[in-house]
Amino acid sequence: MNRSYIENVNPPFFAIYIVVYMDKFVIQGGNELRGEVTISGAKNALLALMPATILAPGSYTLDNTPDLRDVTTMSQLLQIMGMDVKLSGKKLSIDSSGIFNFEAPYEQVKKMRASIYVLGPLLSRYGEARVSLPGGCAWGPRPVNFHIDGMKKLGAEITIENGYINARAKKLRGTRISFDTPSVGATGNLLMAAVLAEGTTMIENAAMEPEINQLAHFLKKMGAKIHGVGTKRLEVEGVTELKPTNIATIPDRIEAGTFLVAGAITGGKITIKNCIPDHLSAVLSKLEQAGCEIRVERSSISLTAPSILEPVDVATDVYPGFPTDMQAQWIALMCKAKGTSVITDSIFVDRFKHVPELNRLGANIEIEENVAVVRGNGKLKGAKVMSTDLRASASLILGGLIAEGETEVLRVYHIDRGYESIEKKLQKLDARIERVQTEEY
Ligand code: UD1
Repeated sequence: MNRSYIENVNPPFFAIYIVVYMDKFVIQGGNELRGEVTISGAKNALLALMPATILAPGSYTLDNTPDLRDVTTMSQLLQIMGMDVKLSGKKLSIDSSGIFNFEAPYEQVKKMRASIYVLGPLLSRYGEARVSLPGGCAWGPRPVNFHIDGMKKLGAEITIENGYINARAKKLRGTRISFDTPSVGATGNLLMAAVLAEGTTMIENAAMEPEINQLAHFLKKMGAKIHGVGTKRLEVEGVTELKPTNIATIPDRIEAGTFLVAGAITGGKITIKNCIPDHLSAVLSKLEQAGCEIRVERSSISLTAPSILEPVDVATDVYPGFPTDMQAQWIALMCKAKGTSVITDSIFVDRFKHVPELNRLGANIEIEENVAVVRGNGKLKGAKVMSTDLRASASLILGGLIAEGETEVLRVYHIDRGYESIEKKLQKLDARIERVQTEEY
């Protein structure tokens, strides 16, 4: 994977310019995508599985691990805490025996909000944790009050000082926690805190996302007692000890959905392999409404795009609803449809940074509060556009794949957070896309 790096240059007149080398994608639009693509392991599952290894000292192997920037960031955080983490091919080996540091510093957390996942396991196993407070993200505020309030209910003493969450607990005690809205991160964090707590914890209105279910299965393999996995009500009977185990990460349903949309938007015919079709039900049903022909097998999905895409409204929802992580890609797809569609994000109401960039490609999208109205005209034109976050970058690549002429997608380090070798996978499907290093001042 290419990495950005910084170099100091000393030009005349004693001025100092900082030249930043970053990767961009250069895309020649217009090719129909054809062929097969293999889906990598799920980023959001791994980001919960990796910190879960804090809960019991010893050696773990997490198979089907993708080479992603977020996985590197989480590995670095665990290493700072004293753990041994190595990626060899698809196998991530973790040895959690040497933990001596219970802090997640600002420098790591600012790179990736999911770093907050170390809070629950550290507190539960070591009785203390110091975790930098994640700030807002590219598309707006993202509070962590459910995580903090839940830990307090489990008996932790928490203070917020100098931008850090300082948490202490002699022993966490089982309690009843009910979320106002289901939160993926808070469910995962509190689950990891509750497994070693004394007594029984009820988590109500829990997230039911497949990544949370996999975390629960992993914890159960480690010896945790969790009932109701896959439902809104998790019951955790605390145990005194857990043991290391191994697991293979589930396939990434958002990467899978993104490739299906790539097939649909380019008028192509593609098969995605190594996926779990059940995890994609909401996306598949919307693609069918848009006119795509879908064939589902045990671990693969084939899509044949129609000659004209129908406009289809979408409102994001918690699982099994349409994922907010597919909202940006759906907006890109609807630019190609003939007619008007309305896309509402009910999970993250400000998540529309990709819209002005898609409009630079000639799209006609208006935003009012958390609703985007897309007037599809089937045509986009190449331009330079800027990635602002992970899924926004994906939508700009999708736009570039159908834009007439050349599109440059700048700052693709965002996409490297969550898509493994996306340009190579797209090239195998006949897309004309290149990664090029560029200078920014
Ligand atoms: C996770 C995913 C992210 C996905 C999101 C929603 C990971 C690493 N990230 O993020 O890709 O887009 O789920 O599916 O798995 N909320 C609060 N207080 C809190 C926590 C959440 O008000 O303490 C709100 C959020 O603002 C949001 C909603 O709850 O409106 C759901 O967010 P949440 O499920 O927690 O998202 P993340 O876990 O951060």
